[in-house]
Amino acid sequence: MPERRLPARLVVLVSGSGTNLQALLDACADPSYGAAVVAVGADRDGIEGLARGDRAGVPTFVAKVSDYTSRDHWDRALADRVGAFEPDLVVCAGFMKLLSTDFLERFLTLNTHPALCPAFPGMHGPRDALEHGVKVTGATLFVVDGGVDTGPIVAQVAVPVADDDDVASLHERIKVAERAMLVESVGRIAREGVTVDGRRVRVGTSAH
Ligand code: GAR
Repeated sequence: MPERRLPARLVVLVSGSGTNLQALLDACADPSYGAAVVAVGADRDGIEGLARGDRAGVPTFVAKVSDYTSRDHWDRALADRVGAFEPDLVVCAGFMKLLSTDFLERFLTLNTHPALCPAFPGMHGPRDALEHGVKVTGATLFVVDGGVDTGPIVAQVAVPVADDDDVASLHERIKVAERAMLVESVGRIAREGVTVDGRRVRVGTSAH
C-alpha cells in the first residue's frame, strides 16, 4: 500500500458463508474505521458471502474457474475484475483458491487462516489441529505469497482447544477470534500503513 488514501479500498474475495466479510462490512460502516469494501468477489455462485455483499449494497462479481479455458486465464480474468475496483488491499476471507504470482505482484493481498501458521496449512486447519491433539490453536492473518498459507505473518490469535471439541465447535470458536483479529488488523493497516520486509510485517505509524 505505497500511497495511503482514506478510506482504503478493499476488495474481499470469498468462497463460502462470509462471516469474516460481514465483520469487515460492519466495521466499514463506521467512517472512522478508515476502510471501505468496494467489491466482493467469489469463485462460485449462490453463496452467502455474495448475498452479504448484495445486502450491504456492495458490487459483487463471480469468476468461476470452469468458465475459463485454463487456470491462467481465470487468474488473469479475476485480476482484471479485482483491478477494475482499484483496491488498496485485497482480502481473501475464506477464499478457497490459490492466486498466481502475477495477481500477488499486482495487489497487496491478505488471507486469514484458521490455524497458527506455519502449523496446519491448507483447507482443513481446525480438523488437522484437532487430529494432532494440540491444546492451543488459533488464526493467522498473513500476506499471501506463492505458497499454501506460507506468507509473512501480519497477526495471530491463540484459541484454546476444549476436550469435547469437534471440528465444527473448534472452528466456530476460532472464527470468533479470527473476525476480531481481521477487523483490528485491516483497520490499522488502512489507517496507519504496513511494511513487509522479507518475513517481517510491521503495521503501524512507522510503516509507509
Ligand atoms: C475462515 O475460518 C477462514 O479462515 C477459512 O475459512 C473460513 C471462512 O469463514 N479459510 C481457510 O481455511 C483457508 N485456508 P467465513 O466464510 O465465515 O468467513
